[in-house]
Amino acid sequence: MKNTPHINQTADIAQTILLPGDPLRAKFIADNFLSDVRQFNSVRNILGFTGNYNGKPISVMATGMGNPSIAIYSYELINFFGVKNLIRVGSCGAIQKNINLFDIILAMGSCSDSNYAAQFKLLGNIAPIASWPLLNTAYKTSEKLGINPHVGNVLSSDIFYGEDMQDTLNFGKFGVLAVEMESNALYLNAARYNANALCILTVSDNLITHQETTADERQTAFTTMMKLALETAIQL
Ligand code: HPA
Repeated sequence: MKNTPHINQTADIAQTILLPGDPLRAKFIADNFLSDVRQFNSVRNILGFTGNYNGKPISVMATGMGNPSIAIYSYELINFFGVKNLIRVGSCGAIQKNINLFDIILAMGSCSDSNYAAQFKLLGNIAPIASWPLLNTAYKTSEKLGINPHVGNVLSSDIFYGEDMQDTLNFGKFGVLAVEMESNALYLNAARYNANALCILTVSDNLITHQETTADERQTAFTTMMKLALETAIQL
């Protein structure tokens, strides 16, 4: 069992991990979808669990909110714990009129206003993208489950309460589907350190129509996304 600055390991970690932002979501997934559950982390209440889904070991751990937080956890999971497949499951705000509450988005690409990529000293811009095998598997699985996801670009922003929300909406002019706060660092770390990543999102609000979901509604919608993520995970 290993110890890193942010993970004090108390059980095995599977090669494939689901990554919600919220620690209680991680616990909810473990309690409701996995069998034979062991907790592997509790440092800073970033709860992590490993269990079985359809006989396959799957882990789930929270990431906290924002690119810096998911950057820390994905870095440690990939580089110190050998995790290969990282699937973020989160919520997002749609920035297209025609995207409805509870719709599911598969983030093919991840734009950002974050500075995380600057450390890699690339002479130009990198386009952080989902792993194709994961995206392809998730898309095919969604078809089987009767889910009709949007597939495309998202904005992974460092800003939730912005001075000028038009800055976010401008990305919509380029077909960007929604805004969230974690996929950019996740995709960059996966690319840089040889792992596979995908971000699956449920639309919890629409920044153009100002529609919002209630906490109860989000719980139900979340269940659909979890099923998609888990059915995808066991095929990897
Ligand atoms: N901004 C960023 N992240 C989000 C949002 C949002 O409006 N909604 C859900 N996650």
